[in-house]
Amino acid sequence: MNNLILLLFPSILYLSLLVNTILASNYIPKDHILLNCGSFDPQTTDSDSRKWSSDYKSNFLSSSNGSFRAIAATKSRNVPKVPYNSARIFYSKITYTFPISSHGRVFLRLYFYPNTYSRSNATINALFSVDVGTYTLLKNFDAYKTTRSLGVEYVVKEYYINVGSGELVVTFSPSDMTSFGFVNGIEVVSVPKVYDNEVGVSILGASSPFTIDGSTALESLYRLNVGGSYVPPTKDTGLSRSWFEDTKYIFGSQFGAANSKDPNVNITFPNSLPSYTAPIDVYSTARFMTPDNFLNLKFNLTWSLSIDNGFTYLVRLHFCEIFSNIDKVNQIVFNIFLNNETAYSGVDVIALTESNGVPYFMDFVVILPSDDGGDSKQDLWVALNPDTSDKPEYYNAFLNGLEIFKINNTDGSFAL
Ligand SMILES: *[C@@H]1O[C@H](CO)[C@@H](O)[C@H](O)[C@H]1NC(C)=O
Ligand SMILES: *[C@@H]1O[C@H](CO)[C@@H](O)[C@H](O)[C@H]1NC(C)=O
Ligand SMILES: *[C@@H]1O[C@H](CO)[C@@H](O)[C@H](O)[C@H]1NC(C)=O
Ligand SMILES: *[C@@H]1O[C@H](CO)[C@@H](O)[C@H](O)[C@H]1NC(C)=O
Ligand SMILES: *[C@@H]1O[C@H](CO)[C@@H](O)[C@H](O)[C@H]1NC(C)=O
Ligand SMILES: *[C@@H]1O[C@H](CO)[C@@H](O)[C@H](O)[C@H]1NC(C)=O
Repeated sequence: MNNLILLLFPSILYLSLLVNTILASNYIPKDHILLNCGSFDPQTTDSDSRKWSSDYKSNFLSSSNGSFRAIAATKSRNVPKVPYNSARIFYSKITYTFPISSHGRVFLRLYFYPNTYSRSNATINALFSVDVGTYTLLKNFDAYKTTRSLGVEYVVKEYYINVGSGELVVTFSPSDMTSFGFVNGIEVVSVPKVYDNEVGVSILGASSPFTIDGSTALESLYRLNVGGSYVPPTKDTGLSRSWFEDTKYIFGSQFGAANSKDPNVNITFPNSLPSYTAPIDVYSTARFMTPDNFLNLKFNLTWSLSIDNGFTYLVRLHFCEIFSNIDKVNQIVFNIFLNNETAYSGVDVIALTESNGVPYFMDFVVILPSDDGGDSKQDLWVALNPDTSDKPEYYNAFLNGLEIFKINNTDGSFAL
């Protein structure tokens, strides 16, 4: 018991060493388009040194009647200039067409900063839909309401879509005659099948698995570097994902202990897991329960994340044992609960990976029926607690990363 206590505290100091972790080879996307919508500059560079091109006179903007370029009326310190300083405003349907040389999955990211653009005040009457083929990504989308409810100034919507045809066609349409729409940026990046699962993911509370094949699209809702810090798109594994801190999603007063890997533990991907699955920085940090075995029996380490009722969700939990003194089975064994139901009991990461420093993930599907009471949202609870049934050496539990996706409904929609 004392060993772990000693290790959990000083390891916080190792945070600064993270930069030195060995670089796993990154995925190199065949297609990567960064479009700064409505920009008056043909080329702009964001704070991560990524280059964006304007959609003005761009081949990607295949139909733009009734649309124009405009600059945000008010500036905010917290809002990056690129791509949020400008937007394309549309009063009728517009279409962007992106040629995709690699048939398969792409991430489509849509960037929105509700502001006033020319005389179009997006905090009042911007309401629009976004469609891709048979998928409805956004319907009667109110970007201002969305940012307000999240307590943020801008929002990025990310979708994982299969492109079979060689082009990705994205259509934006105002909801009605009195409303308009806007978009500040569009990013398209071709990616490997990181989230597909043809064998099937186990569904909480059901015996038959859930297949994630080419007909399934995902909307990324949460992507957390649990126990670690923000990982920007440029530090991802080539897929340009952002990984956020987990602290604001922790439920209750028990935050456990955020830890970084021991310097003498190397993160090494097994042959069965592609190194683009998640950045080494995500696997190098974890949130454990407290160093007190007996306190850990009195609470669950819990994250609470707001999601919509009436949809199905993919939940991915990333694990990697980061302590050099945890390298044998039955040292740390724990249970995973999703919405108070047991998703997996007796998780022993060393038993699954055979060694510390080896990344691993688990997927689960959670189906949330529509709420008869009419509540459109609820909180998804992800909770861990020690499994003491085989008397492990420590009563603890940990998590390195967490991703939550909404799965399109039978109508191909993500909208309520
Ligand atoms: C756009 O407007 C031009 C000029 O009014 C017209 O010729 C063209 O057909 C329109 N295109 C679409 C796609 O509506
Ligand atoms: C946009 O509308 C909001 C809400 O009515 C108002 O507070 C704001 O001043 C308007 N912005 C501009 C630039 O007119
Ligand atoms: C970790 O990697 C470094 C550099 O490649 C190597 O020198 C060291 O021996 C490795 N440590 C372990 C425990 O494998
Ligand atoms: C889990 O159970 C607790 C205690 O009964 C309850 O307060 C909470 O709402 C439940 N959470 C979910 C997501 O069902
Ligand atoms: C942890 O969560 C599970 C599932 O909701 C619950 O049965 C158990 O009582 C919780 N444990 C504690 C100590 O709160
Ligand atoms: C997702 O949408 C596609 C296209 O509309 C549809 O074929 C597929 O069945 C949907 N998936 C689910 C799980 O409903």
